[in-house]
Amino acid sequence: MIRPLEEKDINTIVLDEERIFGESLGYSMLHNTLTGEDPLNHFFVDEEDSKIRGYIGVWFDEKNSMILNFYVGEEYRRQHIGEKLMRHVIDYVFNSGVDTITLEVRPHNLDAIDLYRKLGFEYSYKRKYYYNDGEDAHIYILYKEML
Ligand SMILES: CC(C)(COP(=O)(O)OP(=O)(O)OC[C@H]1O[C@@H](n2cnc3c(N)ncnc32)[C@H](O)[C@@H]1OP(=O)(O)O)[C@@H](O)C(=O)NCCC(=O)NCCS
Repeated sequence: MIRPLEEKDINTIVLDEERIFGESLGYSMLHNTLTGEDPLNHFFVDEEDSKIRGYIGVWFDEKNSMILNFYVGEEYRRQHIGEKLMRHVIDYVFNSGVDTITLEVRPHNLDAIDLYRKLGFEYSYKRKYYYNDGEDAHIYILYKEML
């Protein structure tokens, strides 16, 4: 079941992010979303049997939107949980009146790129030295009118 982030999810997500990405968006960023301090950030989790199987965050204002972070736990992959989370956010953002969704991905993250292409995202441009380790990011964009 996909539902909005709750306070009780935050510790699990921070630990998952650190294990999967080597770093986390951090407790405060997630917590501030719930208190209304960061009203432009929106986070959702996929939960089954009280276990967080995956999570996605998106930032958007009246015109633009950007995926903040996105993962599915290792033991839950290849069950279309990631695809459902991404489709949920696409509907959420486009129904809010924003026409494009942007995301960045490491060029060698072919699993994620496969998923983004399947959903209609198109490669746009390279952002040099984007990641902390100096790797470039590839920017992909989904246009509402292309769906
Ligand atoms: C990317 C990620 C979220 C995908 O989640 P997932 O739930 O395993 O993916 P899904 O089962 O929904 O896959 C949907 C589609 O994505 C593509 N895909 C996902 N994993 C893939 C893999 N290992 N190999 C090839 N294609 C893959 C396929 O097109 C798949 O469709 P199909 O099953 O009909 O072939 C997951 O691999 C992950 O968390 N990776 C580590 C974190 C990460 O890289 N996040 C993205 C940062 S930009």
